[in-house]
Amino acid sequence: MRPAAQQPTWPDEGALESSLKQLSALPPLVFAGEARSLTSALGEVAQGRAFLLQAGDCAESFAEFSADSIRDKLKIILQMAVVLTYGAGVPVVKVGRMAGQFAKPRTAAKELVGDLELDTFRGHMVNDDAPYAEARVPDPARLIAAYHQSSSTLNLLRAFTKGGFADLSQVHIWNQQFVASSEEGRRYEQIAAEIDRALRFMEACGIELSSEHSLHQVDFFTSHEALILGYEEALTRRDSLTGDFYDCSAHMLWVGERTRQIDGAHVEFLAGIENPLGCKIGPTATPEEVLAICERLNPERVPGRLTLIVRMGAEGVADALPPLLEAVRDSDHPVTWACDPMHGNTFVSNGGRKTRRFDDILSELRGFFDAHERAGTWPGGVHIELTGDDVTECLGGFGDIAEGQLHERYTTACDPRLNARQSIDLAFRIAELLRS
Ligand code: PEP
Ligand code: CO
Repeated sequence: MRPAAQQPTWPDEGALESSLKQLSALPPLVFAGEARSLTSALGEVAQGRAFLLQAGDCAESFAEFSADSIRDKLKIILQMAVVLTYGAGVPVVKVGRMAGQFAKPRTAAKELVGDLELDTFRGHMVNDDAPYAEARVPDPARLIAAYHQSSSTLNLLRAFTKGGFADLSQVHIWNQQFVASSEEGRRYEQIAAEIDRALRFMEACGIELSSEHSLHQVDFFTSHEALILGYEEALTRRDSLTGDFYDCSAHMLWVGERTRQIDGAHVEFLAGIENPLGCKIGPTATPEEVLAICERLNPERVPGRLTLIVRMGAEGVADALPPLLEAVRDSDHPVTWACDPMHGNTFVSNGGRKTRRFDDILSELRGFFDAHERAGTWPGGVHIELTGDDVTECLGGFGDIAEGQLHERYTTACDPRLNARQSIDLAFRIAELLRS
């Protein structure tokens, strides 16, 4: 057995066994065929013909689980996709950090809450974030709860994206009241109005729009970090059509910066499944390490199989990224490159809250696009932590959130997320970067 980093110490082995046994008897959440469609869509990205938008919570929460919050997150992602598609003229592959993003890797095993030293919160699939010792004890019943919440989230996402809500004629109703009254909301409304006009024009020309599926439905995929290996293994099934193994907990799975060791258990697990994969790449990664990951996770060199999600930080991107782009380009590995401008830019504010500056996020994105332009490679996509709510977790943006305001609506279960307005604003900036 290879070493598995970041696994919880479950206090009751018997209870864990029983949860995993239950999970392996439950139906898969996604079909292998859907995962294969995502691989083809990401293959288009790898070849410079599409753009990836992967976004959602840092950590989904058992406590904040409602139809409204799922709908509002989906709305923002659909709005961002419209801005990118219309603004930059490229098809957008939409992947949520949703319906399964319940486990968190942590840098420290303990955290100080007031005077109390507690085991760290590891995501609602493992323990609770409440500030007392018993809440932090890993409970395997949570694995089952995470499965069921993923299942109902996915059910609603499928209903929304296939049942009329994501119809392009609804492009106005995705704009929430508090966004519509802002500058970025009005900018979005202009695009929405232009899309309306274009649809009416086509209709007036006698084009039968009702039979155009792509105008009425959206392909929306799910993804999360494959962290708790017992959970992922229990949901791994053999596809009856091809005989291959797929992790049916989500369409796409990624391995994090803290668990991507080439000889570790997480990489071993991902190498054995056929889903499209992601791997986070931080500023300390060497070209040799990255090439080894490409060989291990995509030995057949299938476009769309492997997305490298780089998270270098605004300061580090200009130096750290180019050698990796060049090495991968020269090796002819068909990689989908995505920029995670969030995780390299986190810091603790004076008030003690984890936050990120909108300007740092933007600056890392600029560095990512610049580096690709120089290397002659395609800046394939972005990986964003956001919510549809009006939270105050990241600093700056059009609303210009200041440090003193962070406490007002700070509700994240883990890392700070962009709010709805900051997310739309960011989509416009990314569209500009793509156009230039
Ligand atoms: C995350 O995506 O929430 C995360 C923990 O990222 P990373 O592995 O890049 O630190
Ligand atoms: Co995070």
